[in-house]
Amino acid sequence: MLNIGFIGAGTVATALATSLSNKGYPVIAVSSRSADSAKKLAGLIRGCNACSGSQEVSDTAGLIFITTPDDAIASVASQVEWRPGQYVIHCSGADSSDTLKPAREAGATVGVFHPLQTFAIASQAVDNIPGTTFAIEAEEPLLSMLKEMATSLGGNCVEIKAGDKVVYHAAAVFACNYLVTLVKLSTDLWQTFGIPREQAVRALMPLLRGTINNIDAIGIPQCLSGPIARGDTGTIKKHLTALQKAAPELVSAYRELGLKTIPIARAKGKIDDKQAEELEAMLVK
Ligand SMILES: NC(=O)c1ccc[n+]([C@@H]2O[C@H](COP(=O)([O-])OP(=O)(O)OC[C@H]3O[C@@H](n4cnc5c(N)ncnc54)[C@H](OP(=O)(O)O)[C@@H]3O)[C@@H](O)[C@H]2O)c1
Repeated sequence: MLNIGFIGAGTVATALATSLSNKGYPVIAVSSRSADSAKKLAGLIRGCNACSGSQEVSDTAGLIFITTPDDAIASVASQVEWRPGQYVIHCSGADSSDTLKPAREAGATVGVFHPLQTFAIASQAVDNIPGTTFAIEAEEPLLSMLKEMATSLGGNCVEIKAGDKVVYHAAAVFACNYLVTLVKLSTDLWQTFGIPREQAVRALMPLLRGTINNIDAIGIPQCLSGPIARGDTGTIKKHLTALQKAAPELVSAYRELGLKTIPIARAKGKIDDKQAEELEAMLVK
């Protein structure tokens, strides 16, 4: 098995390096911008050395993950001397393997291994790995190696072509980051009737979990509930009036999301074309 190294000892590196090591992969080297970060991660993994720089990782490992922020991947790739036979991978969702051109030109095989997962802090990142889907962009033999790695980590994989990466990543932003935004906006409204954000988040958690469980169990469109799914135009009208008074800055987002929800309700079959048209007329500005 190839020795594995990490350049960039942040959240994703911590999750991947410790999980891979736990599954028997030899993670032997890590470097980072700061020596402290490298030492901290190396200290979590048996047999892993904190290296003084990226070049040392490249010199000692056969398969290297560049797990820096996206904007630093290209400069790391161009500063390190790579060699034929090496495998160089990054974990960005938006960037393709083209960012690793200098490594490819030096004879290394390059690829992308993007965990379709959210890692907010290193201490809980490891727990999020099992069950994660990994989006892989690579050619053989690296493709098979990364597929096997995803399976060993208890995950699934999907192949994404270089040209589709940006749209794939925008899709992840909708499902993950903007969900955070929606919950934040919801808690803004709770504050208008005097309930602090933290308490509101606690109150909303079972609703969020129930929604996710329904998406998982019965899929879209069947999982949709609420006034649009029922064709309750009167309720939507009341919402618009109340929001205009309590939080006018949220009306446009409410309208926009409502319009995107009508086709889901229509597909579920609980509203007919006439109800859909009525809802649309109400939500269109
Ligand atoms: N977080 C997520 O939810 C998530 C999910 C999927 C994919 N990803 C991808 O995973 C990659 C890493 O993201 P992350 O969230 O783990 O970032 P992060 O927590 O910010 O960690 C990045 C690490 O890279 C180090 N670093 C920065 N510039 C460097 C350089 N020039 N050379 C060497 N090390 C450098 C940082 O420095 P210090 O040494 O100062 O600590 C930090 O430890 C990104 O490509 C990201 O798109 C992230």
